[in-house]
Amino acid sequence: MCGIVGIIGTESVTQRILAALKRLEYRGYDSAGISTINKQKIARCRAAGKLSNLEQELNNGTLSGTIGIGHTRWATHGVPNVENAHPHVAGKVAVVHNGIIENYQQLKEEFADKGVLMQTETDTEVVAHLASQYLEAGMQPTEMMQALLSKIRGAFALLIMTADHPDVLLAARKSSPLAIAHGDGEMFLGSDALALAHLSRKISYLEDGDWAIITKDEAKIYNLENEVIDRPILITEASDKTPDKGKYRHYMEKEIHEQPEVIGYTLASYRNPTTGKITLPDFAFSPLKLPKLTIVAAGTSFYAGMVAKYWFEKLARIPTEVDIASEFRYRNPVLIENGASLFISQSGESLDTLMAQRYARDNGQNIISLVNVPESTIARESDTVLRTLAGPEISVASTKAFTTQLITLLTMAVHWGQLRGTLSDEMASSIMDNLTEMPSLLAAIFSDDLDWGSVSKELASSRDVIYLGRGINFPIALEGALKLKEVSYIHAEGYAAGEMKHGPIALLEKGVPVVMVAPHDEWFEKTSSNLKEALARGARVVLLSDDKGIEKLHEAATWVFRMPEVHQMLTPILYSLPVQLLAYHTARQKGTEIDQPRNLAKSV
Ligand code: G6P
Repeated sequence: MCGIVGIIGTESVTQRILAALKRLEYRGYDSAGISTINKQKIARCRAAGKLSNLEQELNNGTLSGTIGIGHTRWATHGVPNVENAHPHVAGKVAVVHNGIIENYQQLKEEFADKGVLMQTETDTEVVAHLASQYLEAGMQPTEMMQALLSKIRGAFALLIMTADHPDVLLAARKSSPLAIAHGDGEMFLGSDALALAHLSRKISYLEDGDWAIITKDEAKIYNLENEVIDRPILITEASDKTPDKGKYRHYMEKEIHEQPEVIGYTLASYRNPTTGKITLPDFAFSPLKLPKLTIVAAGTSFYAGMVAKYWFEKLARIPTEVDIASEFRYRNPVLIENGASLFISQSGESLDTLMAQRYARDNGQNIISLVNVPESTIARESDTVLRTLAGPEISVASTKAFTTQLITLLTMAVHWGQLRGTLSDEMASSIMDNLTEMPSLLAAIFSDDLDWGSVSKELASSRDVIYLGRGINFPIALEGALKLKEVSYIHAEGYAAGEMKHGPIALLEKGVPVVMVAPHDEWFEKTSSNLKEALARGARVVLLSDDKGIEKLHEAATWVFRMPEVHQMLTPILYSLPVQLLAYHTARQKGTEIDQPRNLAKSV
């Protein structure tokens, strides 16, 4: 959603806040700002757009102080301009906020009745006014926080500072994440440990409902009942290195190329390469008796869940349903007692996924999560955590997190299939042996040096692109279309190939590119018929297939990309690569901001 940072200490904070914000830019880049307290006054610098704009603004002026707060925004309420950029200031108070104040309209009206008008379109500004009003009425910071938190509703991570108390930073957390890093005579706050790891590795996490008064020497944390509470100090695993693109032009390109390696790491963390034995973390239930598995996720992680449904049902015969996180808790899902719910999230912080997870927990589900950030909120609130070892994923469009999710989910389905007796040892070995070859198969696709130039030029000048797949590769068609939309801004739709005739075929006219994800598998004959239907309407086909498939269909396709042959259960992992590369190369042709596409954020 947004990234927030605060520092209180004895040395100048501005550049360090900026550096921490850079590590949080994945959370939003619509605008950014920093406030400090200088000579008992709030000073502020803000800029619309990316942090580099704020950096320039900061160079034009001086913003000094030993206490400060900063923000990088993903706009919810109010257009992304300077006025709506955080920090928001009222009187002697400055506030940064990640989340949504749900009752802001009502609070705005209450202020308007008193003749106080808001200067911005944001939901956050009311928080600054409330804090200022309470302090002006004579409340001390502790009382002010209690009054404020009983007045506002919604989701928030808040940092507040006031010129009258330049020796304290105030913080509060409900649903949105907030971490404290403990320094030596300095304290740091941020949306996640990654933002702070280069400042101090000693991290404590605020729990939901916590708030805190922070001086340069200590953090006094209160819970929802306003009782002082201890939150443990952990040593974070988050990297303190500044990410870099290495030899690549974009993080997306780098992360696509890292897949052979990180897939190898992830697989080796679950399967002993010598004995072939699969070891998963302990579950609070027996997979043998599992009546149903519910998978919930958002975005690309949701498509990983869709692929996993095929695996869990086919290999382990577990009834599996997959839900979009933002829909799940609103449809009153039937959750079978002692069932398990699996939440997939690269960041471990997507708010809809977290809320769905809490809903499932409240409804008696065993909670499993599959995350790339092991200290994330979703991981911390799970009974069992499965990890992808993808390393930090910086590009907003997810690539290596997706394929490592798939690796983990397939390993899990195979293991459970063996335990439940629904998958023969022979079949399990055949899948897993082939899976261990996945890193080299993917690496071979890079060294094949396929020509993405001509097809990406064509896609870059198209208005619509259709992606079709069947069976286990239907979700890869969806993911391919999503990748293209995200990074190239071209309208793309993914469909189950057999569904095309029920509507989407109306979009087809001469020349429309249709990307067929078509390995030679049990669905191939059907997919070929759908390809012919598209051809008959003038579509130009981009065929992703293997030797056998290409032999049968190459004459029908304008562009052909040859993939190695693998066990059909593995094709979604393998075919993720060409759809990622198609999107990446098309975006390069278009010259879009590939790593930070407009309107998106990595964690919302
Ligand atoms: C955002 C990102 C997507 C991502 C989705 C889910 O929308 O732009 O790339 O797939 O969130 O994120 P998660 O961290 O929960 O996997």
